[in-house]
Amino acid sequence: MKTGIIIRINGPIVEARQMEEVGMLEVVEVGELRLIGEVIRVRGEVATIQVYEETSGLRPGEPVYCTGRPLSVCLGPGLLGTIYDGIQRPLARIAEGGAFIGRGVKKPALDLERKWSFQPIVKVGDELKPGMVIGGVQETESVLHRVMVPPRVQGTVKSVVPPGEYDGHAELCVLEDVAGKRTPVGFYQYWPVRQGRPSASRLPLAQPLLTGLRVVDTFFPLAKGGAAAIPGGFGTGKTMTQQALAKWCEAKIIVYIGCGERGNEMTEVLREFPELIDPRSGRSLMERTILIANTSNMPVAAREVSIYTGISLAEYYRDMGYDVAIMADSTSRWAEALRELSGRLEEMPADEGFPAYLPDRLASFYERSGRVQTLGGAEGTVSVIGAVSPPGGDFSEPVTQHTTRFIRCFWALDRDLANARHYPAISWRNSYSEYLPETTQWWRQYDLTWKENRDVLMNVLQEEVSLQRIAKLVGPDALPESQRLTLFAAEIIKNAFLQQNSFDEVDMYCSPKKQLWMMNLLAFFITRSQELIKNGCTLNEIRAIPDLDRMNRMKSEIKNDDVAAMTSLEQRVHAALDSIAREQLARASK
Ligand SMILES: Nc1ncnc2c1ncn2[C@@H]1O[C@H](COP(=O)(O)OP(=O)(O)OP(=O)(O)O)[C@@H](O)[C@H]1O
Ligand SMILES: [Mg+2]
Repeated sequence: MKTGIIIRINGPIVEARQMEEVGMLEVVEVGELRLIGEVIRVRGEVATIQVYEETSGLRPGEPVYCTGRPLSVCLGPGLLGTIYDGIQRPLARIAEGGAFIGRGVKKPALDLERKWSFQPIVKVGDELKPGMVIGGVQETESVLHRVMVPPRVQGTVKSVVPPGEYDGHAELCVLEDVAGKRTPVGFYQYWPVRQGRPSASRLPLAQPLLTGLRVVDTFFPLAKGGAAAIPGGFGTGKTMTQQALAKWCEAKIIVYIGCGERGNEMTEVLREFPELIDPRSGRSLMERTILIANTSNMPVAAREVSIYTGISLAEYYRDMGYDVAIMADSTSRWAEALRELSGRLEEMPADEGFPAYLPDRLASFYERSGRVQTLGGAEGTVSVIGAVSPPGGDFSEPVTQHTTRFIRCFWALDRDLANARHYPAISWRNSYSEYLPETTQWWRQYDLTWKENRDVLMNVLQEEVSLQRIAKLVGPDALPESQRLTLFAAEIIKNAFLQQNSFDEVDMYCSPKKQLWMMNLLAFFITRSQELIKNGCTLNEIRAIPDLDRMNRMKSEIKNDDVAAMTSLEQRVHAALDSIAREQLARASK
């Protein structure tokens, strides 16, 4: 192994000479402790290395060992349920008082000695291409792990093991290519984290990633394979929203990256997450989750790489044909790591001290989202959801601004809503989704008037914004009945539909069917009331409908599948409006 010599140490950045043969982005082992680092610049014989472990005590003159390989993740069964640091070292004990792994400790990402029960699906003579499945392992109760031929490997099956228990060293099958070269395929494969895993083709997005949050699914939907950002000031609900999504969204696999949160806060996440129950299976959510943790007291370089480690793991499960969702909380802490490293490299800073390549780096995370046809012929998606914590809640800062270029769904958390305890505090004024055309198609399978009814609600919310301004000047009573109805209807939409309590047994998750029904009932109530008022009814008559209270509480009082209760409330609201119409007709004919 080639070795160099350390000449300079500046926090996580180390320079070494005699490194002329090292490659960019090659992994090196730094110092007597053999700390893990990555080469990020080579000038002549001097290489600049970013080190993923604490560098205190390291001295000039110590050796640097080249490895000849790029920073990679180890992929295979055993990933699910594991908590890793940014460079995929397992952190089993972090929750117990933050006991981090010692420096230079090479803990394998996956336990190669562990035996898995393997069920092959190929036979001798089969022609296999990269990405094709050779067999399955029940990785956890809810997830079948498909063992795949690694990218760039192919050939004819020369041998394959019978069903049985095998460990990480086993050659499950051996492939022979046209040149006669034999390659064994086992449970495990490696992939360089900074490179997207290949797929056969990218497919257009076609379905919503349903989340059970009404404000998301109905108003600002994310598509399966899309990318979204949740920007929000301190304490506005980024973490709660991401956890609700992790729990409820229709993704088979969750990769959750906790970035740079304070140590104790992260410990909380690490303690809480394993306790989360998957509402669909009733089992631990960790059975289909991988957690990546970087607290603010862990080395910044590991934080920088953690989002690429995370998305590589996500792509791997996508390649098995699964829907995967990856959450990063928060990408602002990640960007701060980038800024600190760039500062130490003495690079020319751009906006607010962030390096000029901040947008490129953000792109190389968000742009790995997508819906693909996998090399093996299946269909899989990676949906990316990044939280952004702009200082002072000011969305004009660089990280939020650059992020908007790479996402198409923006869930803006609003300080005023959070203060008013309107949760989720997703603003209907500042949020947007460009996935609406795709998701509308999907909803229209169930209801052809989905878009029209959504527009009714959205229009009321938008009109309310300008009416509020006028009402402030002249007082609400000076407004005409029709405008007062708009203000009244907007309140109902906010209370009955947009607000959703994550702690309420029934309301924590709203099924698509219930959302559709709620939206249709509200849209009907609004359009019908508008007609009545146009024909001379008063707002007071409408306000007096006794079932309005029940409509306001339907989110928590009517269960997701209680069709009888839905029909009954709907009939009562219809009847009440009809009777107002009859009275109004009687009055008119007098
Ligand atoms: N959907 C929700 N339902 C009920 N309560 C909520 C919801 N969202 C947020 N909250 C309340 O707001 C508090 C702060 O939320 P959270 O920790 O998610 O904010 P954050 O934006 O992640 O904060 P930070 O900036 O500190 O990371 C929660 O402890 C909870 O009380
Ligand atoms: Mg948070």
